[in-house]
Amino acid sequence: MPAQIIDGKALAAQVKAEAAAACAALKQKGIAPCLAVVLVGEDPASQVYVRGKVSDCAQCGIESREHRLPATTTQAQLLALVGRLSQDPAVHGILVQLPLPAHIDEQAVINAIPPEKDVDGFSPLNVGRMQLGQPCYLPCTPAGCLRMIESTGTAIAGKNAVVVGRSNIVGKPMAHLLLAHDATVTVCHSKTRGLAGICQNADILVAAVGRQGFVTGDMVKPGAVVIDVGINRGPDGKLHGDVDFAAVAEKAAFITPVPGGVGPMTRAMLMQNTVAAAARQTGAGH
Ligand code: GUN
Repeated sequence: MPAQIIDGKALAAQVKAEAAAACAALKQKGIAPCLAVVLVGEDPASQVYVRGKVSDCAQCGIESREHRLPATTTQAQLLALVGRLSQDPAVHGILVQLPLPAHIDEQAVINAIPPEKDVDGFSPLNVGRMQLGQPCYLPCTPAGCLRMIESTGTAIAGKNAVVVGRSNIVGKPMAHLLLAHDATVTVCHSKTRGLAGICQNADILVAAVGRQGFVTGDMVKPGAVVIDVGINRGPDGKLHGDVDFAAVAEKAAFITPVPGGVGPMTRAMLMQNTVAAAARQTGAGH
């Protein structure tokens, strides 16, 4: 039986409706949740992502402030902007779109975002809090993936979960979140030996490698839940995931599409984090 498709757009609409309701409740109290989005340079994919985030803010009633800086912006100039946004009480969330131009130290910029405004969940304090299971802003992509897995009704506890990719923004936090939900977690990467065999053992398989069609049908256990984080522009000009969708859909029980899967969920989780940030910073609780 072919896999059921996890509809990221529909699930994202639900999450955004929750965020919109929470935002409206804050506005009743005179608090206007506001996200500052910073984009440095003209990377076409980043421009698309930022447009999507700003449009989601509008849908949820969240104010957004876009700061577009040229690719020649110095690290000092970017840090100065982050400093101003950090000090501005009307701004509740700060998102600096990654990747940054090569001459800027990404971690230095992330470190400059105050943890309470770090709605991406990338700052060292939020990363540490997440690993300790303490209240924090969860990074949006792994949080969205988790919500998609939960939406299938699959019990995570005791399952074999395999995460392919070990980036700071997806693979590592995804592994921690699955571990926190009592999965047995294996993280694979470019130096992993016997990758196909490890993947074949996965009840839950998360692909976040950034290579089109990397996960092939033979790598997937029948009945698995497969989450595809990849967004790759193919030679055909279209977006493709890290998973060979047609082949894997024949074996998996559930699979996320690209586009229309993880992408919309990532943005929806950002809306949730932003409203939560506004509530916390203004003492409106949450
Ligand atoms: N680049 C790719 N994904 C993300 C994300 O979730 N947040 C930011 N800031 N940049 C990204």
